[in-house]
Amino acid sequence: MPVLCMLLSVVSVKVSFAQNGDNGKNRTESVQLIPIETAHSATVFEVGKDNRLHMVYLGSKLPENKEYNQIIGQYRQGTDYSEVSDVVYPASGSQNLFEPAISVRHADGNQSLDLKFVSVQTKQMDKDIKLTEIILKDEVYPFEVHLFYKTYFATDVVETWADIMHEEKGSVRMDKFASAGLYLRGSKFWLTHYHGDWAKEMRPEQTLITHGIKTLDSKLGSRADLFQPPVFMIALGQKAREDAGKVIYGSLEWSGNFRVDLELDNLNNLRVIPGINNYASSFDLPKDSLFTTAKFLYTFSDRGQGQASRQLQRWARDNKILDGNGQRLTLLNNWESTYFDFNEDKLRSLLKDTKSLGVDLFLLDDGWFGNSYPRNNDHAGLGDWQANRKKLPNGIASLVKEATNMGVKFGIWLEPEMVNPKSDLYHQHPDWVLKQAKRPEYYFRNQLVLDLTNPAVQDFIFRIVDTLFTQNPGLAYIKWDCNAVIYNAYSLHESQQGRLYIDYVQGLYNVLKRIRAKYPKIPMMLCSGGGGRVDYGALQYFTEFWPSDNTDPLERIYMQWEYSYFYPAIATANHVTNWGKQPLKYRVDVAMMGKLGFDIPVHDLSAPDLNFCQASVVNYNKIKDIIWHGDQYRLQSPWTNDVASLMYVDRDKMHGVIFNYLVNARYGSGSHTPIKWKGLDPNRKYRIREINLYPGTTSTIKGDDVLSGDFLMTIGYNPKVDASRSSVILVADAVQS
Ligand code: DGJ
Repeated sequence: MPVLCMLLSVVSVKVSFAQNGDNGKNRTESVQLIPIETAHSATVFEVGKDNRLHMVYLGSKLPENKEYNQIIGQYRQGTDYSEVSDVVYPASGSQNLFEPAISVRHADGNQSLDLKFVSVQTKQMDKDIKLTEIILKDEVYPFEVHLFYKTYFATDVVETWADIMHEEKGSVRMDKFASAGLYLRGSKFWLTHYHGDWAKEMRPEQTLITHGIKTLDSKLGSRADLFQPPVFMIALGQKAREDAGKVIYGSLEWSGNFRVDLELDNLNNLRVIPGINNYASSFDLPKDSLFTTAKFLYTFSDRGQGQASRQLQRWARDNKILDGNGQRLTLLNNWESTYFDFNEDKLRSLLKDTKSLGVDLFLLDDGWFGNSYPRNNDHAGLGDWQANRKKLPNGIASLVKEATNMGVKFGIWLEPEMVNPKSDLYHQHPDWVLKQAKRPEYYFRNQLVLDLTNPAVQDFIFRIVDTLFTQNPGLAYIKWDCNAVIYNAYSLHESQQGRLYIDYVQGLYNVLKRIRAKYPKIPMMLCSGGGGRVDYGALQYFTEFWPSDNTDPLERIYMQWEYSYFYPAIATANHVTNWGKQPLKYRVDVAMMGKLGFDIPVHDLSAPDLNFCQASVVNYNKIKDIIWHGDQYRLQSPWTNDVASLMYVDRDKMHGVIFNYLVNARYGSGSHTPIKWKGLDPNRKYRIREINLYPGTTSTIKGDDVLSGDFLMTIGYNPKVDASRSSVILVADAVQS
């Protein structure tokens, strides 16, 4: 077997305990305990007398490490007939009859697998990150699974995945190949998961998990999260609350089909099996090759959802999202002001608008390419990435130059994974398209998906991006869209169709890796007809994501609220558009809660509206550092209150920004009681003022309130929101005492 990592020390504690619970009667003597700890949490495994790896615990870290071995003895839930209900990475075909993490057919056709513990090693990667590798092996077949746990100590995040390998005489058929298995002991588990569609992203549902299996999954292939994103949370014991209670957040780092099985068993324990979806994806693993699963990340908090999301947001900024602690560009996008209808003159005037608005960048959206089949609507042109000569006779280069001369940056939209049948590309390379040759083509937004399993296609996509940058060194931003799902999945390139969905995502990552090797810091927006592909597998290559085409600010308050459980504000691109009925100020204030952009016809704005937008950009530039790099606190939910309220506090607790929005239009709605702030220093005093007022209006908050952090967090502060002040941004600045 290949030695995968040079790992240093062995971490495990030999313990013995006399009293065991009813479950696992064979594990009563010597066991090896494997605690995987972060600052506040522990995931604990034990090697039983049966030599299998069992899961003891996932929860708050105990100060006395050795007491983990007392945990199982406290549970009396009934008989575990199989004695393997709690194994960490359950296989099928042996004693385990619950949902497996792995199912295989060996080279000789046998379908059994029973993984036994071989060794555990850990390596301290840096001050914060530790990698634990646990090797499991079948005793009958030369088949191994190496489980990895990468812990991020300070932020309490764990990434886990598996390497699967064998030395059998032929290929082993892989029917299921999850990233991990978790076994949670308890009685009540509340699951929060999300559903959606175009313009309806991140709609939450919370349910008590009942016996049997609940599966969260996607089979859509490319725009994989259109109906369901891979993020979820499990509240232990009782429903999740913002500032109290035990909660686990989980997500697959995978930009394709995923599957999370949540199985509540006869002992009332919950088995969580997350991984790449095995739907239509059985494949043969040749001898001596290695299959690495997608990473599954989770974080545990015993201080509620707020703490869990701050952990995850900080982890994402420090470790995952590209340039997560860096800067971002504010922008003007032309999609909603022009759609496909523009020419050089129009774009020139939009460059001027960009400048006059005061944002950093102009983003040219869909419609700039295609000559044999001009991209004048969404029926043609995808795949032909040459500037349309009629619309842009001087090409992209002249626009980039013009923008640069004006002191404005220039960005461009691409949808490089896709092809319209009405395109040169489709005619030149019919073999590059995913489709069933003998069946009628079926389109999503009039387009088909290119076969990214094919290195020639990967190369083509890399070259689209590379050529744009080489020909336009001033190009400063890419919006990477992906509007179609994969129908009629079939690849001419694949010798095993079962690999298609997996290799598609790997092919996409190969391209993104190549782009990042050459252009490490160029900001790129991850878009998929809105939020159809938001996941941490992709976000390591992107600086931000597009949450939804639905930019109605009222809708966005709910959506951004839900995204904020899992993703930081710096990565959440929000644009001011003409969606919704709210006043301009409301729309701008909502977009400020992340990475601000505009997508409105600036030339149509009245003078006061334009003044307001310009002043908003100036105001935003003053507070953006707190929003992007600070900690976020959800104060008052839009789901249960007239006024939604969110707050960002910088790391030194010197400055806070508090966003407040009226979300109920009924008579008399408003902030009748103070809203308790969070995250401040109780011993400091803060001066409170309102910012981003519409020209000609005055605030009922005079700016002379100086209150202690203690007061603001215990009693709260009333932003005085009502129908006449439906959106209020407050700033709290620490004052010298
Ligand atoms: C879908 C995206 O979500 C929109 O923002 C826009 O870029 C269109 N595609 C363009 O076709």
